[in-house]
Amino acid sequence: MSGYTVAIVGGTGTLGNPVTTEFLTTFRSSFPTVRVLVRNPASEKAKDLAVKGAELHKLDEANLSESFDKAFAGVDAIVNTLPHTVSDAEKHALIDAVARSSAKVYFLSEFGVDHRRSDFPGYEVDDWVIKKKIAADTREKVKGKKVVAVYTGIFLQLALAGVIGIDIEKNTFTSYGSPSQKVTLSSLSDIGKALARLSILAIDPATSAKVPDELRIASDTLSFEEVRDVVARVKGVEKGKIVSEDLVAKKEGLKGTQSAPGAILSYIRVLIGEGKLDFSDNSNELINPGESLWKWRTVEDQLRGL
Ligand SMILES: NC(=O)c1ccc[n+]([C@@H]2O[C@H](COP(=O)([O-])OP(=O)(O)OC[C@H]3O[C@@H](n4cnc5c(N)ncnc54)[C@H](OP(=O)(O)O)[C@@H]3O)[C@@H](O)[C@H]2O)c1
Repeated sequence: MSGYTVAIVGGTGTLGNPVTTEFLTTFRSSFPTVRVLVRNPASEKAKDLAVKGAELHKLDEANLSESFDKAFAGVDAIVNTLPHTVSDAEKHALIDAVARSSAKVYFLSEFGVDHRRSDFPGYEVDDWVIKKKIAADTREKVKGKKVVAVYTGIFLQLALAGVIGIDIEKNTFTSYGSPSQKVTLSSLSDIGKALARLSILAIDPATSAKVPDELRIASDTLSFEEVRDVVARVKGVEKGKIVSEDLVAKKEGLKGTQSAPGAILSYIRVLIGEGKLDFSDNSNELINPGESLWKWRTVEDQLRGL
């Protein structure tokens, strides 16, 4: 069968599952072979992906290099959707296997803030310190193939579940700083589609150079005030309450918290207030020109369950 082979590491996860599903459905004709690395191929999530057509590869934690090499044999693209909390041994085994592989493109497990813009001197949150280190180590070792970081803003589904101050149930919208400041929210399925498109562009020698090493995508970019208005329209309720908290004080309060569990959410909310999660300047047009391939999912689509 012609077409490309992709391997997805962490394909049973919050992001990995919808990403794998997009490769197996919307982009199946381009990717007839979709391999998913899982620690337990008998898990329900893994079996569900196999039913959809995924080839399951066991990630044997006692034999990491062999597991990766086997799963990566002959691949064209590798997508990493592992959490950054995996062991150093695993991170390095993965980087080395990517370097040995036939893949033309490798996607780092980024999928969040564009931390090139973050400015917390001496108190950068651990999560981003770790991600930056992994990216640097990967770029140092992986030569002759594209290593791409895709920054997505906040997952749309998570943002609407309340993690950044959008409380739909209470109809209350709490920003750090101005509620007019825009923030990018990206849906999990759009991220999957974007990764499939970027893989195709990066694999093809005619278009490979167009794919940047680091890029932003955005399903929807809007302010807390605009989210409040969409909620009112879709739910048929009064426009909700806006609460604006002191951005400078919130930022100051982060000092010394960089290793605290869950601190990342406060850091994200400060970045939103500073306008650094407004990804209006993005690579959407490269990936999906004029929305000719699909319609990016908006907050309104999500709330209407479209
Ligand atoms: N922008 C946002 O709003 C946002 C939100 C959340 C996450 N993210 C980012 O998205 C990426 C993926 O995060 P996620 O939440 O989707 O990940 P996740 O669901 O926590 O984990 C993904 C998969 O990784 C595998 N895994 C977990 N620990 C492992 C280990 N120690 N060794 C090997 N495999 C392991 C598991 O698969 P098996 O059990 O099948 O092996 C799991 O299903 C990360 O870079 C994360 O920072 C962004």
